[in-house]
Amino acid sequence: MSTALVILAAGKGTRMQSDIPKVLHPIAHAPMLAHAMQTGAALAPARTVIVAGHGAEAVTQAAHEIDDTTKVVLQTEQLGTAHAVAQAQGALDGFDGDVVVLYADTPFLQPETLQRMVAARGRYDLVILGFHAADPARYGRLVMQGESLERIVEFKDANEDERAIDFCNSGLMACDAALLFDLVAGVGNENASGEYYLTDIVELARARGLQVTAVSCDESETMGVNSRADLAAADAVFQTRARAELLELGVTLMAPETVYLAHDTVIGRDTVIEPNVVFGPGTTVESGALIRAFSHLEGCHVSRGAIVGPYARLRPGAELAEDVRVGNFVEVKNAQVEAGAKINHLSYVGDATVGPKANIGAGTITCNYDGVMKHHTQIGAGAFVGSNTMLVAPVSIGAGAITASGSVITRNVPDDALAITRATQDVKPGRARKLFDLLKARKAKRDKGAV
Ligand code: UD1
Ligand code: MG
Repeated sequence: MSTALVILAAGKGTRMQSDIPKVLHPIAHAPMLAHAMQTGAALAPARTVIVAGHGAEAVTQAAHEIDDTTKVVLQTEQLGTAHAVAQAQGALDGFDGDVVVLYADTPFLQPETLQRMVAARGRYDLVILGFHAADPARYGRLVMQGESLERIVEFKDANEDERAIDFCNSGLMACDAALLFDLVAGVGNENASGEYYLTDIVELARARGLQVTAVSCDESETMGVNSRADLAAADAVFQTRARAELLELGVTLMAPETVYLAHDTVIGRDTVIEPNVVFGPGTTVESGALIRAFSHLEGCHVSRGAIVGPYARLRPGAELAEDVRVGNFVEVKNAQVEAGAKINHLSYVGDATVGPKANIGAGTITCNYDGVMKHHTQIGAGAFVGSNTMLVAPVSIGAGAITASGSVITRNVPDDALAITRATQDVKPGRARKLFDLLKARKAKRDKGAV
């Protein structure tokens, strides 16, 4: 049986106080929408349809960046969840199978939960996902009769007895596509909000003698995001889960609660992450590496045995091969650092290749930008770049070459050559003493004059 996803994402999200559509606000550097799509991917959907409204253009672009086969349909006026689902009908033309409806602002559903809903479809015509709420607040209430779901009452329309029910509607449902659109077409808007409630299809299905049930999940999965405070809380939930997964996989996190992970961070077993490390998107760290405290990594790859930090900055395109050392206050961007190379202190290496076992002295800078264009620096195997060398790109340092510290290198250095560009040292014996005496005398005269 094939499945299609319909993801509702048209709402404004007024309480976010934002110019950005709610579903594009990020959790761990991926838009909420991406988290919803990721969860839905567990069902290997034949089609995914996103119902967009507010900020539809941005939502469409983001959806296509995540998966370019996604269909986005427009709900120009937000007349309610049933109306939103109805907009997806055209995009599901010719589709034969089940539709799972989910909300883009509910990022924590577990793939297993969706699978349980789909499995329950074998016995029921319509399956709703419910949860027992600690504080049922304004959620729709599920009125059950044994295993059978009789109807869903929205909080605004519920009586005292119904409001006392703590089994609530998450908003998710699974139903045969043709039946879903048929039921939705019968929904009216005579209720306290004047909206077309998707929840009304339960009663409509029951009236036709169809079987309806509710599958239950943990409340933490149904956590919705409506405000910036919710967004921060959702990020915290994501972090807690992601850290626990890494620990489970055999990664050492010395102070897990201080490590910030991105949605796609990959770390191999036996890697040690010291406290206060931040991972931006697109980072892979292989097994057996050490990421020391206060480092910030994004868009980079760290190989086995490498040691990074403390206080290192790896930016997009940083590729560290095995056993590389990148030390304190070193920034690496778009650079291939080959096996065993060392950049241990206070350097900027950008748009470069650093050969195996090369040693980059403290304070070395690849001057990669001329104000208009970026240029490449090539450093050969086993080269020794002296401290405080300025490598004015494009430039290459040959294998086994040396640059004298303090040099500004503007021309290529051949293999095994020594390049030195600084002025010759001049030493004047006793001159320091004389200079000090002169300066002290001047100061004394000035201080006297000031009295
Ligand atoms: C809905 C449910 C309620 C459930 C709750 C769970 C209905 C009538 N009520 O209420 O039973 O307990 O979710 O959070 O379904 N949306 C659109 N277009 C619209 C309206 C909504 O795309 O015209 C989208 C929103 O962007 C959001 C989702 O649908 O992602 C839910 O809408 P929302 O207004 O938050 O519904 P609730 O009132 O919270
Ligand atoms: Mg809501």
